[in-house]
Amino acid sequence: MTNPGAARKPIVFSGIQPTGQIHIGNYFGAVKRWAAEQDKYENIFCLVDMHALTVPQDPAVLRDKTFETAAILLAAGIDPAKSHLFVQSDIAEHGELAWYLSCVASMGQLNRMTQYKEKAEKQREGSRVGLFTYPLLMAADILLYRTNEVPVGADQKQHVELTRDLAERFNSTFGETFVIPQPVIPPVGARIMGLDDPTKKMSKSTQKAGHAVGVLDAPDVIRKAVMSAKTDSGTEIRFDPERPGVTNLLSIYMVATGSSQEEAEARFEDKGYGDLKRTVAEALIEELRPLQERYRELREDAAALSTLLTASANAIRPTARTTINTVKRAMGVGH
Ligand code: TYM
Repeated sequence: MTNPGAARKPIVFSGIQPTGQIHIGNYFGAVKRWAAEQDKYENIFCLVDMHALTVPQDPAVLRDKTFETAAILLAAGIDPAKSHLFVQSDIAEHGELAWYLSCVASMGQLNRMTQYKEKAEKQREGSRVGLFTYPLLMAADILLYRTNEVPVGADQKQHVELTRDLAERFNSTFGETFVIPQPVIPPVGARIMGLDDPTKKMSKSTQKAGHAVGVLDAPDVIRKAVMSAKTDSGTEIRFDPERPGVTNLLSIYMVATGSSQEEAEARFEDKGYGDLKRTVAEALIEELRPLQERYRELREDAAALSTLLTASANAIRPTARTTINTVKRAMGVGH
């Protein structure tokens, strides 16, 4: 993975929760770009099963989803020869660093996290402490590996900015310890919206039919979801913040076909919404077909997946341990 003699490549870290159905928001906002950029970076991708526990999970389903998500990432082109791909709970240092960071972060900083506010609102008093401290575990994920860049969708930007703030605060209090990471948000596809309600982000936890397109959805399911996508009563097909449904479909078209905004608008000039939807559905089906084929092969061999994930965790653990030892020395714990 490292090429001795060559200039060191920047380190990329990103993570995905192995829950719900991995949808085209996750794919276009994150996973597809991780795969496409692998040659430019030293890559570390993590299935963040400990983050998944911040809301109640069925244990058997969570374990199964961890394999499913690993297979999806590999099928999407994450290449184990170029990237580490491991399960968060396999490396105890993630939880360990999160504790040290919890003694650096303030309650106020965590209270400002919009994702926490949104999720906690739904659950009121029942919301878990882990949901509140979730951004610290995410900061630990990133800081453990001396990460330079964190490619994520727009919804995670605030968490990466908190990570930067914590790293800076730590460095100024205890001395230079952490590399300050940079969030990298794609110009298009950073926020794919729900098909049923284009004012809300497409989300894994929304189970309603017609909300999301899962990367493993069959062609008929994709057609049905896209054809019933909510639009407005207008007719013109162009990017317009006042018309989020059409704008969302055009963005999906752009990322699925690699078109520019001008190309996308020109493609649908004088066309109706029906044509736009049909074209988007077929573009998604084409984009996802090879992924789904590879997925089915990979998913059959759970033992091979497990071996790969374990080997990757074993290979990267020493880096995490080195960071923890530096942190402990800096903070004065241990002997
Ligand atoms: P998660 O599992 O919710 O999402 C995985 C990735 O998909 C992006 N994403 C989207 N992009 C575009 N449109 C959408 N509708 C959409 N929904 C999700 C997310 O921004 C993310 O990049 N906290 C993270 C996981 C995490 C992590 C990390 C990420 C844990 N530790 C360290 C980076 C670095 C999360 O819950 O992502």
